[in-house]
Order: sequence, then structure tokens, then C-alpha cells
Amino acid sequence: MLVEDPVLLHQWHPVLMSKDLTEEPKGVEVLGEKVVVFRTSKGVHAFKDLCIHRGVPLSLGKVENDEIVCAYHGWTYNGCGACTKIPSMPKGRVIPSKAKTTTYSCAEKFGFVWICLGFPPETEPTIGTNTFDNPDYVRVVMGPYDVQAAGPRVVENFLDVSHLMYVHEGLLGDSAYSEISDYRVHEINGQLVTDEIEVYQPDPDGRGYGVHSLYKYKVHKPLTVSFTKKIVGSENFFELYLIVLPVTEASSVAFMIMERNYALDDPDEIFIAFQDVLIEQDRVIVENQKPELLPLDLQAELHLKCDRLSIAYRRMLGEIEITFGTA
Ligand code: FES
Ligand SMILES: [Fe+2]
Repeated sequence: MLVEDPVLLHQWHPVLMSKDLTEEPKGVEVLGEKVVVFRTSKGVHAFKDLCIHRGVPLSLGKVENDEIVCAYHGWTYNGCGACTKIPSMPKGRVIPSKAKTTTYSCAEKFGFVWICLGFPPETEPTIGTNTFDNPDYVRVVMGPYDVQAAGPRVVENFLDVSHLMYVHEGLLGDSAYSEISDYRVHEINGQLVTDEIEVYQPDPDGRGYGVHSLYKYKVHKPLTVSFTKKIVGSENFFELYLIVLPVTEASSVAFMIMERNYALDDPDEIFIAFQDVLIEQDRVIVENQKPELLPLDLQAELHLKCDRLSIAYRRMLGEIEITFGTA
């Protein structure tokens, strides 16, 4: 195991959208480790993406009768990672019991397939405390968005309220209204939560209406964050979660879930297409930030009052000793 990050190693990370894992095995990368994910009638499974025979990725193979078959010589592994068949072996010989591959915890929840490389403290993945089953809301699952930037950089960009008026001008903000009122960051049950921050938004969700929004940001875990957004003068409520998969130190995949209590019948595609636009706008910024790894030394960059949440986020990462994607 190359990964030494004591926190991220033991967390659940989303690696695929559930709908994208069908009968073919898929190769993914988590914290620099190559992993094969596949689906059987018993559920989803994750193994080290390496056949123990000659080091060929199992993701090149296929799933047959609930087992994964290596593409090179057909060695076959069951859902527990034990080798059950070596086609070249003469009949009657017993497969050595040490012929097994490294397995990882794998689960399917909230529309994603999740992996934990270490020992997950939670039996199943969580996204904050949201169970995503409130019948008054509709939800849209979005991603995967490949981003060539460190996970903490991607997260910090999501938490950065004062970029809305520049990077997303005309949509999420207007540079003529770029002042950010003072807000505080609170630590509640180990999570960071901001006060409400008012932002004027010309077209906040792609439907062409300008509104004043009240943002409240939350940091649930190092790479799981969200904001709620209330529209001033209406009952409209919107919540967007970002969960970032740390692929390598400087590359990530972003997944999102949006919940809202309005426009209940509008097709998902409107909201996904709009998010696609926003992500492309953010990509130009985060893929070019230097240094690539998020500096946790608060002296390393200049901070303003409106950056309070970024400061609190960097401090939190330092305190829990996140090393992957930080400097
Ligand atoms: S390398 Fe996989 S069966 Fe030989
Ligand atoms: Fe953004």
C-alpha cells in the first residue's frame, strides 16, 4: 500500500455512477491505487486491479457466473477474491489457498459505487447526515467530472463564495455586486458550517431568473461538502453536495447530488447541462492553480475576511493530518 494518508485511506470514496457499472468490469484509481470494480448478482466488488499470476489488470477481463475472469490465462476469482479456477492446471490438482487477490470494501449507495481501501469506520457510505429520501425534494445525481487538480483544491473552489461573481459571472454572480458581507464559520459536531451569505445571482440554475440567494456552506468531511441555498422572498430551497474522489495527488473526479423543492417536474437534463457549464468554468481555474497541492500553511497565501471558510477548511485539514493533495 502506497497511500499513507491516515484519514482518506479509511474513508469511503465514490468511484463510479451506479448506472455506469453494468456487466463489464471497470478499472478505477483511488489514492493512487488501481482498483477493479465489478458487479455480480450478489452486489458490487472491488479488488486490486492486478492478476496475481502475471500482473495483468483484471479490469481487462470479464465477469462470468458471478466471478471475474482474467483476460490473459483465464484465472478466475470469486466475489471474495479467492481463485476458483486455473484453466491450464491438470484436473484433480488443488488450487493453492494462497491464490487470492487483495479485496477492498465496496458498496453501492445514493446512486454511486463506493470503495474504501482501508478499514471504514462507517459500515456504509454517508454524505453528511442526508438520507436523500425526503419526498418533498427531487434530486439529481451528477458526474463523473474528471478534474486535473488536487481534491482539496477542487473542494476549496466549491467553498469559495467570492469567485461566483467572476468565474460564473452572469449566472451565479455579477461583478457589480461582488462584495461579501461578514460571515462566521462555526464548528458543529465536527463539521464546519457558515452563517448565511447573501449573493445576487442573475441566473442561478439555468432557468433564466435572477434572484437574491442565501448560501450556507458545510464541510462534512475532507472531501465531502455542500451548500444550501434559500431564495430570498420564496420558499425555494436548493442543496448541492460535492463528493470528490482523490485519484492521484493532483487529479480528481467530482460527483454531485442536487436536491430541490421547486421545479419538481423539470427534466434533470436542464440542471445537469447547467452544472456542466459551471464545472467547465471552474476547471480553467483549478487546473491552473499553483502550487497544485493545497498549501495548509496559512502564511503561504493571502487571505481576506471573505476567505474565512477556506481558512477554516485548511486548518481542519491540517488538524486531522490530511496529506494527500496538500502541501
Ligand atoms: S495473468 Fe491473469 S491469468 Fe495469467
Ligand atoms: Fe465555481
